[in-house]
Amino acid sequence: MSNLLVINSSANTGASVSRILIEETVSRALEAAPNTAVVRRDLGSNPVPHLTTANLAGVRGTPATEEEFAARALSDELIAELRAAGTIVIAAPMYNFSVPTSLRAWFDFVLRAGETFRYSEAGPEGLLKGKKVIVLTSRGGLYSEGPGAAADFQEPYLRHLLGFIGITDVTFIHAEKIGYGPEARDAAIAGAKTEIARVARSFSTVAA
Ligand SMILES: Cc1cc2nc3c(=O)[nH]c(=O)nc-3n(C[C@H](O)[C@H](O)[C@H](O)COP(=O)(O)O)c2cc1C
Repeated sequence: MSNLLVINSSANTGASVSRILIEETVSRALEAAPNTAVVRRDLGSNPVPHLTTANLAGVRGTPATEEEFAARALSDELIAELRAAGTIVIAAPMYNFSVPTSLRAWFDFVLRAGETFRYSEAGPEGLLKGKKVIVLTSRGGLYSEGPGAAADFQEPYLRHLLGFIGITDVTFIHAEKIGYGPEARDAAIAGAKTEIARVARSFSTVAA
């Protein structure tokens, strides 16, 4: 059985819309496939470090120092979590038109040549095939349609990063207009939960 990897990246706790939605998704997944092993990674409360001069060689080079070996070990651990997962659920709030830096830092640790992608004569090739990703976004404004769409650097960016490591089965569920007041927030959460219930019907086949 493959795992369900659950990744949070909101810096908010109780009031976080994306955290509400990810718990809804986990509940639905466990209803559909009760034996699913859930592995959690909370980047909002337990971030991976940013790449710096002190640790970069651990991820994109040859580690030599203690910090570089620590970065290599963390990168190995995060990649192992990804490999073991059949389905990955990512909660991604929109921060400054893109993803939180905690999520960006996680990608810095899992995009590794020879591990999750490789360079071939035909160009880069993603190595994590056959996985399914559900991305739950929470956004203060509206970006899925209208004038805001041009400022959506979140969905295309995530699609590209995931595609780069070979993951192309990606479903986005957006909770938008969170900043438009309590009614709009409640409606966005309700709409996203309906969509989660629909998507979760396939969990019994993909998570098990
Ligand atoms: C640092 C920060 C930056 C934000 N930037 C944007 C933004 O660019 N566009 C937007 O629509 N909402 C923005 N918001 C609002 C959040 O997307 C919204 O509150 C969302 O619900 C946050 O997710 P969460 O509830 O899971 O924490 C921002 C919020 C924070 C805290």
